[in-house]
Amino acid sequence: MPTLVHLSDIHFGPPQVPAHVAAVERRLREKRWDVVAISGDFTQRNFRGQFRQAKAFVDLARASAPTVVIPGNHDVAWWWCVGGLGPRAMMYRGYRKWISADLEPVLHAPGVTVASINTSHGIQWHTLTSRPRDLSVVGAVRPAQWAGAGHSLSSAPPGNLRVLMLHHNLLAGNLSRRWGLTARAAGIDAAMATGCDVVLCGHDHEARVEQVERDGRRMVVSQVNTISNRARGGLPASFHELSWDAAQVTVRQQQWDAAAGDFVDARSWSFAR
Ligand SMILES: [Fe+2]
Ligand SMILES: [Fe+2]
Repeated sequence: MPTLVHLSDIHFGPPQVPAHVAAVERRLREKRWDVVAISGDFTQRNFRGQFRQAKAFVDLARASAPTVVIPGNHDVAWWWCVGGLGPRAMMYRGYRKWISADLEPVLHAPGVTVASINTSHGIQWHTLTSRPRDLSVVGAVRPAQWAGAGHSLSSAPPGNLRVLMLHHNLLAGNLSRRWGLTARAAGIDAAMATGCDVVLCGHDHEARVEQVERDGRRMVVSQVNTISNRARGGLPASFHELSWDAAQVTVRQQQWDAAAGDFVDARSWSFAR
């Protein structure tokens, strides 16, 4: 069965945990996975040195397997362009220079197609929220972005697992109780309408995996924890390995075990496709 590793929120900078990164890098060198997907927040403060570290990690991933990445809110220099005033290109300059010129890449690999949506726009009129502390943090998706992802997934070869990747959490966090997107629950319907089988997202720093059903359709949501030291609720850092065949999708959580000094099998979930 093909495998895809879903990582997120590495946060190079103070929250980064070198042992966690090294454990993942070891697996990348072993070419453990067929596809690597990283759903944003590569840096903590958008600093050049943090991007440089993130680039080395992404380069290793790209040498290991087809890799798809998107920016998170921490990777966007939002202060350059608040409310559309200022040079918008500066917001993504660091990310584009060090990580990827494409903010919404589409990846076709054997058995899987990944379409992505950039949910990290800084503070714009369409991202405004009633929670002041969320102003530069919350995610937003324009209708054209949902439609574009749906178009990309509709061009997936028949039988391919269709994956949609976002930075912000599609489901409210179990601990935080917070939605990642301004659309809140409506985001679930919009994601479903893209025709995806699986959603990959992060941002909330807590793992939540479940299958969502709407009108006879269903999709698996892999909301993955951080591998930095900022895991919510003091829970161990973790990431997800996805595998699939024509009948089902399995998500295995790899969780940090301090005694073992490595990520080890924790929970797993299997869902009918
Ligand atoms: Fe994060
Ligand atoms: Fe984030």
